[in-house]
Parts: sequence; structure tokens; C-alpha cells
Amino acid sequence: MLEKQTRIAWSRCLCLIGAVLYAPSVQALSLEAGDKDSVCAAATPITNGIMDYYEGTRIGGAVGLFQPPYYWWEAGEIFGGMIDTWAWCGNHTYENIIYEALMAQKGPNGDYVPKNQSFTEGNDDQAFWGLTVMEATERNFTNPPADELGWLALSQGVYNTMLSRWDSADCGGGLRWQIFQWNSGYDYKNTISNSCLFNMAARLARYTQNDTYIDTAEMVWDWLMDVKYIQNKSDGYNIIDGANIGNNNCTTFETNTWSYNYGILMAGTAYLYNFTNEQIWLDRLTGIYNGFESTFINASTGILYEHMCQETGNCNNDQRSFKSIVSRCLGQTAVLVPSFRDKIMTIINKSAEGAAKSCSGGSDGHTCGINWSYGGWDGWYGLGEQISALEIIQNTLVLQVPPPLTNSTGGTSKGDVNAGLTSHETTNKNEITVTSKDKAGAGVLTAIVLIIFVAISTWVLI
Ligand SMILES: *[C@@H]1O[C@H](CO)[C@@H](O)[C@H](O)[C@H]1NC(C)=O
Ligand SMILES: *[C@@H]1O[C@H](CO)[C@@H](O)[C@H](O)[C@H]1NC(C)=O
Ligand SMILES: *[C@@H]1O[C@H](CO)[C@@H](O)[C@H](O)[C@H]1NC(C)=O
Ligand SMILES: *[C@@H]1O[C@H](CO)[C@@H](O)[C@H](O)[C@H]1NC(C)=O
Ligand SMILES: *[C@@H]1O[C@H](CO)[C@@H](O)[C@H](O)[C@H]1NC(C)=O
Ligand SMILES: *[C@@H]1O[C@H](CO)[C@@H](O)[C@H](O)[C@H]1NC(C)=O
Ligand SMILES: *[C@@H]1O[C@H](CO)[C@@H](O)[C@H](O)[C@H]1NC(C)=O
Ligand SMILES: *[C@@H]1O[C@H](CO)[C@@H](O)[C@H](O)[C@H]1NC(C)=O
Ligand SMILES: *[C@@H]1O[C@H](CO)[C@@H](O)[C@H](O)[C@H]1NC(C)=O
Ligand SMILES: *[C@@H]1O[C@H](CO)[C@@H](O)[C@H](O)[C@H]1NC(C)=O
Ligand SMILES: *[C@@H]1O[C@H](CO)[C@@H](O)[C@H](O)[C@H]1NC(C)=O
Repeated sequence: MLEKQTRIAWSRCLCLIGAVLYAPSVQALSLEAGDKDSVCAAATPITNGIMDYYEGTRIGGAVGLFQPPYYWWEAGEIFGGMIDTWAWCGNHTYENIIYEALMAQKGPNGDYVPKNQSFTEGNDDQAFWGLTVMEATERNFTNPPADELGWLALSQGVYNTMLSRWDSADCGGGLRWQIFQWNSGYDYKNTISNSCLFNMAARLARYTQNDTYIDTAEMVWDWLMDVKYIQNKSDGYNIIDGANIGNNNCTTFETNTWSYNYGILMAGTAYLYNFTNEQIWLDRLTGIYNGFESTFINASTGILYEHMCQETGNCNNDQRSFKSIVSRCLGQTAVLVPSFRDKIMTIINKSAEGAAKSCSGGSDGHTCGINWSYGGWDGWYGLGEQISALEIIQNTLVLQVPPPLTNSTGGTSKGDVNAGLTSHETTNKNEITVTSKDKAGAGVLTAIVLIIFVAISTWVLI
């Protein structure tokens, strides 16, 4: 235990020394929460910090990808946040970069299953790009030309292909984590993949006013309750990570609680309540919100944090971006469900002010940290820290901008209810031609990744 603390302290120390050697100036972003000029001024250095990690504008870099170790899914998440900056601040500097990224990564079938990602892409990874094209749909982001699939059609392509993988054979339903059986995690059914399908269904229902999507949302919700990934506890819902199918029907739970599961499900129920006006969705929203507040909001500061890993300094690169996801979901909930506005905006305002204070580090003097209660930069830096700060800060504007558009309130995106359904990947999901060389390659890759992962985890945990 002592050794673990020492190691963490030591790496923190190295990180701080690095920062001191670098840092020319230390100046927090000044932020007046909810003031458009102030928020948009803060968005500029934070977004520029995001772009420092972007490969797509480098010679030979893949359009739409951020540099390793950041995974493909996180790029999807980031472009969703940048679409909101585009829409709310009216700053078109990065419009082409976002547009090119969404077009470059959509894959041959228009469902965000690009060939390059087939050794890593899970349902949740695909979904994060799906949520981003849904954001583009709801925010009237610059449309592709008429002879290309619109953002709505791409969202439907993601939704349709995910739904086609619904697996009733095990655990009474649900999506598996992985799409491809050669990837490790194919046996795991996780909450986030299923929450994302739920969220997409809710938003498609509201956007297109087509009740068929509600049926899907209900099916996914019922399954998440049946399999007890969502549990109704006295202080609100407890939402766990998932379980292996194994030989006991998804009953050996992986009980970690992550903010993004709460956020994605919360926003989904908010969209459904807004669209249907049915009390049941408000009750479910209340259950999720209460569980979220009691788990992820520091009671003394009112500030959002990632409770499984942040205080212990163990958040991995993925987990360090989860606060960005939940920040956008909180904003959506505040807009769509007026009775939640005050308490959610209180959290957003306080967290945003803390986040702005944290954006005072690194070589540019505006690098954002992980701990929004720290009162300054805490020495952490990365893509997750940047995007989380951007999303919480810009969401202080959420009540002043138009609510997410729908087909009948000015949305202009072109859809296709059958998008994705002719897919090679989905109709023959287990029969994609994979040469044994590819399989061997995937095995070696998985092994290398595992070895590195185990080595690092052991080093930190021992
Ligand atoms: C959040 O901050 C904005 C700007 O200061 C303010 O207008 C709004 O009332 C605040 N909301 C809450 C619930 O604190
Ligand atoms: C728009 O964003 C770019 C890049 O972040 C920034 O350089 C520019 O100052 C911004 N423009 C305005 C008007 O805020
Ligand atoms: C796929 O990977 C290759 C090789 O890394 C790269 O050149 C190409 O740009 C990538 N394509 C996409 C769409 O990411
Ligand atoms: C497996 O789990 C699902 C979801 O909890 C449940 O509906 C189903 O009855 C279970 N099947 C068996 C055979 O236990
Ligand atoms: C959750 O359980 C409580 C009792 O502990 C009950 O009052 C509430 O209606 C339940 N909520 C839902 C949405 O099932
Ligand atoms: C909440 O914030 C206070 C003040 O920063 C801190 O002392 C405390 O450790 C935090 N608690 C949690 C659970 O993060
Ligand atoms: C954030 O920093 C505060 C002040 O140093 C500390 O008390 C708190 O434990 C930290 N919280 C988290 C979640 O990292
Ligand atoms: C749905 O959201 C809109 C936009 O914020 C809001 O005006 C309306 O009151 C909401 N409807 C319900 C049923 O909450
Ligand atoms: C959507 O974008 C189009 C094309 O830029 C524009 O003509 C239209 O006014 C926008 N509509 C809304 C509601 O923003
Ligand atoms: C809205 O949906 C209707 C029915 O699906 C469709 O006819 C219409 O073209 C859509 N409007 C837009 C702007 O896409
Ligand atoms: C509603 O959505 C379903 C599912 O995608 C689709 O099959 C159906 O054709 C849609 N209905 C209309 C009127 O667009």
C-alpha cells in the first residue's frame, strides 16, 4: 500500500516537475458561468489544447483520429462536444475539421464501422460516433451534399446495426460489448453499449416522432432492470458496469459505477419524458438522477468527480474523459426536463467554475487538470481533461441556446429508416472474411496490449 502511494506520488511529482520546467505562465481561465462571451473565450484555449492531440491535420495523419494512446471512440466523443461549441459560440474555425472527421470515419456502410477499427471496435465505440452524428442532427450541423447520407441517416445506420446485434440467446437479451467475436470482451455484456442504444433510440424517437424507437428504448430499459445492471436502491438507482455471459447468465457482476452510464441513461430518460410526457420516464429519471448525485457529486463542494478512480489517482485514459460525456448529458436533461433545471444548473455552474480554475497548467498555461475541486491545476493533463473542461464550461450556456432540434422544429438532416441494414457486417456479423493472418495478428496485438496493461497495472497496484 505504501509502495503504491509512493509510486503514485512519485509519478505525480515527476509530472509536476515537468510542468514547472515547461510552464511559462500560470493563469486560470477567467470564467463567468453562463455568460456567452466569457464561455466562448474560455472555449478557445481549451479547444486549441484538444487540437494539440489531433492527428488529422498532421502530415500522414489519419483524418478523424487523435494520437495514441487515445482510442478511436474518444475522437467521436470530442467531435460531438466541438459541434456544440460550433453551434453555441458560432465559431466556425473548426467546422471543416469536424466535418471531414465525421465523413472520414463513417465506414463503407455509413454506420461508423470503418475497416481500420475492426480489431478494437465495440458496440460502445460505434455508439459514441453515433451520439455525435445525432448531435450533428439535433444542432443542424452543416449537412453533407444531397447525394451523401445525412447525419440523421448515419445516426440511423448506427442505431439499426446496433439493434441488429441484440442477442436474445444469452442473459435474456442485451448487446454484447464487442461487435466482433475475435476481440476479447465478446463474452461481456456491458451497460454502456446498451445505455447508448437506449439513448440513441430515445433521441431518434423525439427527432423523427416515430414511436417504433420508443419500443426499442423500452426493451433495452426493461432488460437493464431484469439483468439487474440497474438496481433501485434507497438513495437512487445504482448502475453497474456489466457482467460476463459466462456460464451463469450474466449474474457475476462487475460492480464498478461509472458516471457515463448514469449520464447516458439520464439523458435518454429526459428525451423520452420530453417526447412522451409520461410520468414513468420522469420517475426513472428521478431514480437515475438521485443515484448520480449521491455518487458523483462532492457533497461539500457540489462539484462533479469520477468517484471510482479520481481521488486515488487511478483513472485511465478512457475514464478521464467520462466527465465530458456526463456534462453534455446533464445539459440535455436540464433543457428537456424543466423540473430538474435548478439542481442541474447548480452542479454545472459550480463544476464549470472549478474546471476553469483547473485550466491553468502545462506549457501553454491553459492546460486543464482532472480535479475541479482543487482550486487550480493539479498536475494532470490529457485529452480527457481537455474535453471534460470544454463540455462542462460550455454547458453553462445550455438554457440560452435552442433546445435540440427535431424534424418539426427546424432540423434539416436527411434520414433513412433502413440505413445500415444492407450491411455485410450486420447480416453476416460473424462471417466477415478474416484471414488466419489477421486472426493471428489480432491475437498478438491483444496479447501485447494485455501484457502492457498487466505490467502497468501491477506496477501501480502492487
Ligand atoms: C448558473 O449561472 C448562471 C450565470 O451566472 C446564472 O444565470 C444561473 O442562475 C446559475 N444557475 C444556477 C442554478 O445556479
Ligand atoms: C474561434 O476559435 C478559434 C480557434 O479556437 C480562435 O482562434 C478564435 O479566436 C475564435 N474566434 C472567436 C471570435 O472567438
Ligand atoms: C486507416 O489506416 C491507415 C493506415 O494507418 C491510414 O492511412 C488511413 O488514413 C486510415 N483510414 C481511416 C479512415 O482512418
Ligand atoms: C437469464 O437472465 C435473464 C435476465 O435477467 C432472465 O430474464 C432469464 O430468465 C435468465 N435465464 C435463465 C435460464 O436463468
Ligand atoms: C424505487 O423504489 C422506491 C422504494 O424504495 C419506490 O418508491 C420507487 O417508486 C421506485 N422507483 C421506480 C422508478 O421504480
Ligand atoms: C470533497 O471536497 C472536499 C473539499 O475539496 C474534500 O476535502 C473532500 O475530500 C472531497 N470528497 C470527496 C469524496 O471527493
Ligand atoms: C481534489 O482536490 C481536493 C483539494 O486538494 C482534495 O481534497 C480532494 O480529495 C480531491 N478530490 C478528488 C476527487 O480528486
Ligand atoms: C421539452 O423541452 C422543451 C425545451 O426545453 C421544454 O420547453 C418543454 O417544456 C419540455 N417538455 C416537457 C414535457 O418537459
Ligand atoms: C439549418 O442550417 C441551414 C443551412 O445552413 C439553414 O439554412 C437553416 O436556417 C438552419 N436552421 C436552423 C433551425 O438552425
Ligand atoms: C420530416 O419527416 C417527414 C416524415 O418522415 C419527412 O417527410 C420530411 O421530409 C422530414 N423533414 C425534413 C426536414 O427532413
Ligand atoms: C419508424 O421507424 C421504424 C424503425 O426504424 C421503421 O421501420 C418505420 O418505417 C418508421 N416509420 C416511419 C413512418 O417512418
